[in-house]
Amino acid sequence: MDSAQTSPRRPSTARGRINVWLLCSTTLTMFWIGPYAHAQPGDNLGQLIAEKGLHHIPACAVCHGENGEGNLSAGYPRLAGMSKAYLFDQMNDYASGARHNRAMQRYSHTLTFLQRKAVAGFYAAKPGLQPSTLSPPSADNPNLVKLMEQGDWSREIPSCFSCHGVNGAGTPLIPAIAQQPAQYVITQMNHWQTDARPVVDGDPMAIIAKHLSTTEIADIARYLAHNGTK
Ligand code: HEC
Ligand code: HEC
Repeated sequence: MDSAQTSPRRPSTARGRINVWLLCSTTLTMFWIGPYAHAQPGDNLGQLIAEKGLHHIPACAVCHGENGEGNLSAGYPRLAGMSKAYLFDQMNDYASGARHNRAMQRYSHTLTFLQRKAVAGFYAAKPGLQPSTLSPPSADNPNLVKLMEQGDWSREIPSCFSCHGVNGAGTPLIPAIAQQPAQYVITQMNHWQTDARPVVDGDPMAIIAKHLSTTEIADIARYLAHNGTK
């Protein structure tokens, strides 16, 4: 009786073990392979996009420099060491058309959210600017010194460095403004003046840009671009 009852169970127990094993190994394979499905084996996705490009997007490094240092003479902004959230938000703004630049709109739109996040992370991890390598504005231009260091409260302009860090080196949350190409800074200010670049909650840049004169913007842009560079 005993053997008659137990013997039919044996094959099903063995099959059960095989099924459990198959289920476990399939699940584990999905977890291991899943995150790398978009990348070449062994490559970091952000690094791949930055250094080699993807689909029809050229390598970001072609314009933004090998280490995200930007290109002062060609007018391509620095990305190195800026917060991952900031860089990711900018790519999303280009992709949605909220920020305007034809090339960046096309590239950002082509990348998925995952790819944008990965490449933002790659540039955020690069070393940013050291305040000690940067200089305050020259005393020859007292109005520039005032705007950068004290602000002008009669025009609702707080000091630039109070948010953008010592000599514009940036902080973990707010982007660096030192060593950005002069034309890039001027374009951003013009976009804020005409509401063509979005403002995040509590972000004062549109108000600040609207209260600065064309000459002040040009002075600021020239000082920032040459800060700490030869
Ligand atoms: C052909 C040159 C070119 C290539 C290639 C390029 N960019 Fe740009 N990028 C620009 C220019 C020009 C701007 C400034 C646009 C503007 O005025 O808003 C910019 C702006 C940006 C900004 C905003 C920077 C800031 O400080 O707000 C980010 C982020 C960015 N690019 C990321 C990337 C990434 C990531 C890639 C690669 C997938 C890439 N770019 C490829 C030219 C390029
Ligand atoms: C109260 C804080 C605050 C002050 C003061 C401030 N900024 Fe900003 N600034 C920001 C923030 C935040 C951003 C990022 C905007 C965003 O996320 O869209 C920014 C962005 C910028 C950018 C664009 C950076 C990039 O990579 O595209 C420039 C240029 C800039 N600020 C220049 C200035 C100048 C010049 C002054 C002084 C006249 C100034 N800012 C004062 C908070 C500030």
